[in-house]
Amino acid sequence: MPSAYIKTYGCQMNERDSEAVAAQLVAKGYDLAQSEHQADVILLNTCSVRDQAEQKAFGKMVNLAKETKRSRPHTVLGFMGCMAQSRGQSLIDKLPDVDLVLGTQKFHRAGDYLDQILTGERRKICDIEAEQGSESTIRDHLSIGKDTNGSISAYVSIMQGCNQHCTFCIVPFTRGHERSRPIEEIVAECRELVAAGAKEIVLLGQIVTSYGKREISTQNGKSAFVQLLEAVHEIDGLERIRFTSPHPKGYGDDLIEAYGCLPKLCASAHIPVQSGSDRVLKLMHRGYTRERFLEIIGKLRKVNPNIGITTDIIVAFPGETDADFQKTLSLVEEVQFDNAFVFKYSPRQDTPAAAMANQIPTEVNEQRHAHLLNKVSEIGSNRYQRYLDQTVRILVEGPSRRNPNRLQGRTTCNKIVVFEGHDRHVGQLLDLKIYRAGLFTLYGDPAILNLD
Ligand code: SAH
Ligand code: F3S
Repeated sequence: MPSAYIKTYGCQMNERDSEAVAAQLVAKGYDLAQSEHQADVILLNTCSVRDQAEQKAFGKMVNLAKETKRSRPHTVLGFMGCMAQSRGQSLIDKLPDVDLVLGTQKFHRAGDYLDQILTGERRKICDIEAEQGSESTIRDHLSIGKDTNGSISAYVSIMQGCNQHCTFCIVPFTRGHERSRPIEEIVAECRELVAAGAKEIVLLGQIVTSYGKREISTQNGKSAFVQLLEAVHEIDGLERIRFTSPHPKGYGDDLIEAYGCLPKLCASAHIPVQSGSDRVLKLMHRGYTRERFLEIIGKLRKVNPNIGITTDIIVAFPGETDADFQKTLSLVEEVQFDNAFVFKYSPRQDTPAAAMANQIPTEVNEQRHAHLLNKVSEIGSNRYQRYLDQTVRILVEGPSRRNPNRLQGRTTCNKIVVFEGHDRHVGQLLDLKIYRAGLFTLYGDPAILNLD
C-alpha cells in the first residue's frame, strides 16, 4: 500500500482535520510515512489567515515539486484546507505538479480521490464545493484502537465555519457559514476517546461560543454551548475539558457561571480581544466594546481569581492611529494577560478591511508588533514568576516538545510545565513544585506526595 505524509500549517482545527484524514487513509490500508522524503502521497494542510502562512505552504510545495520530480516522479502532491478552499484550481494552474486540491468541506473524500489519482483513473482533482453535513465528517481519530500516547488530550470538532465576518478575517470564506454537530454525536465521540485513554477533551470550532445557536434552543438560561459543556462533563473517566476559540460576545453569565460549577472545565480562557480601541473594534466588526471585554474578564476572575487568561491581538489594522495603539497597550496593562498572540495585520483577499483606506505602512506595523510583544512578554514573565515555589497539579501529556527526555503537562490554567519523569506518569494528574519559571514555560519537581 502507498504511504502518506501530511504536513499541517495553522490552528488546532487544521491539526484535527489532518488527524482525521490520516485516520481515514490508515483505515484504507495506507502507511503513515515518517517524513516527506519517503512518502508516495504528500499533502499540505494549509492556513490562509495571514499572507505569511500561505506563502510558507506555497513555497514548500514548490520545493516538494522540484525534489519529487527529480527522484520520485510518481509522488502525488496535494493541497488541502483553507488555502485550497480560497485559491482552488489556480493552485494547479500555477503549480502543474500538484495533483489534488481539497477544500475544507471535502476532507472525507481524500481517500477516494487519492485512489483515483493513484490508479490513473483521474489525473488532477480539485474539489472545493460546499457539502451539506460536512461538519459531521471530521470524526475519525488515529488514537482509537491504536496504542499511541498522543491521545491523552484529544481534539473534537464541534462545529465548522463562522458568521461573524470580522472585517479582517478570511475564515468565513474558507470555512463557510456556521454548522454545528448534534450534542449526542459529539458526546458519543468524546466517550469513545475517553474509553481509548483520553483524559482531556479540547472542543474545537472557529467560534465555539456560537455553537448550536440556530439548531439548539436555550434551556433554563443556558446557551447550546453551555448545554454541550454540561453533557461532556458527565462523561466518567474524563478529567478535563477545554475549548477554543470562543468569541467575547459568547461570554454570557451562563458560560461564566459554568467555570464555577463544572470542575472538569479548565480554569483558562483564550478570549481574542484584537484591539483595545472602541473605534478600531467597531471598524473590525467585533461586536463588543473595551468596557464589555473588561467586564467579562472581571466576572471570570470573580468566579476564579487564578483563571489563566490569554488573547489574540492584531496591530496596525487599517486606520489604527497611535492613540488607538496606546489604548491596546493600556488594555494589555489593565488585563494582565498570561499570554497574548500578537499579529501584524495582513490584508486578506475579499475581506472589507483589505479595501479600507489608510493601510498602515510596514515599518509602523513592525514597530507596533515589537512594542506590544515586549509588553506582553514583560507581563507574562511576571505572572509566570509568581508560580515559583508553588505546587501545581498538571495532567501529564507526554514528552516535552523541546527536550524529548523530559515530560510535559499542563496546569488547569493552561501553563506548560516541564519535568523529569517516567513514561508511567503519562496520563496522570501529578503535583509538581515549581523551581524555575521561564518565559511561558514552568519547570517542576514531583511534589513529595507523588513520589511512588
Ligand atoms: N476564531 C478563530 C480565529 C482564527 S484567526 C480561531 O481561532 O479559530 C486567529 C487569529 O489570527 C485571530 O484571532 C486574529 O487575531 C488573527 N488574524 C485573523 N485575521 C488576520 C489578519 N488578516 N491579519 C492579522 N491577523 C489576523
Ligand atoms: Fe474570524 Fe472573527 Fe470569525 S476572527 S473566525 S470572523 S469571529
